[in-house]
Amino acid sequence: MYVEFSFGRTPALRGANLAVEAGEIFAIMGPSGSGKSTLLHCLAGILVPGSGEIRFGGARIDSMSETQRSLLRRERFGFVFQFGQLVPELTAVENVALPLLLNGVRRAQALRSAHGWFERLGLEGLQSRRSGELSGGQAQRVALARGLVAEPEILFADEPTGALDSLTGEHVMELLVSTAREQGTTVVLVTHEPRVAAYADREAMVRDGRVTAPQRIPS
Ligand SMILES: Nc1ncnc2c1ncn2[C@@H]1O[C@H](COP(=O)(O)OP(=O)(O)O)[C@@H](O)[C@H]1O
Ligand SMILES: [Mg+2]
Repeated sequence: MYVEFSFGRTPALRGANLAVEAGEIFAIMGPSGSGKSTLLHCLAGILVPGSGEIRFGGARIDSMSETQRSLLRRERFGFVFQFGQLVPELTAVENVALPLLLNGVRRAQALRSAHGWFERLGLEGLQSRRSGELSGGQAQRVALARGLVAEPEILFADEPTGALDSLTGEHVMELLVSTAREQGTTVVLVTHEPRVAAYADREAMVRDGRVTAPQRIPS
């Protein structure tokens, strides 16, 4: 895929040419303001690039309608952001169940699937808490469960450890990587921290909106 994107007259992406392979953990690195989030949002069908093309499988995401893109995001992509962004009115387990409920899974079954993630991520006993009653690391693990519960083909993670101290961040990254590998989920991970990018199979570097793509994995 190749993309360019501008916010009005601010060119946030000046040309990115990269391919993420199925099943890999791919990091997008670069300093703050370099265009990493813009690139992630273009890849995930949240923003439509000003020019260029984005393919997912055989389909062109950039030429889809807003409805098609939101369906694609809901059914086939998962998301984790820097500040968890849990719905504060919902309990932790309801937050995790949310993507399933949005995909039409019955409430009882969605909650049952969601419950399974609490043990898996070391969150036993926290199911009924609201986001204000969770530590940063706990909230981010709940957000990770929510991103993975619907078994997405791609998990998009934008600075998923950016708000955590380094030890908690490493714990979250270990869980993210191990659960994604178990499920065969492709991960596109944005970070400015080399320690976080070290969990990836490959990394691309963004500077001033220009992306240096990595070598393809030799096959
Ligand atoms: N909604 C927006 N409106 C206008 N400019 C934006 C917006 N979002 C980001 N930008 C600008 O685009 C550039 C890239 O931003 P971003 O992709 O968020 O960088 P990063 O994620 O690497 O910190 C920056 O110069 C930023 O100020
Ligand atoms: Mg960003």
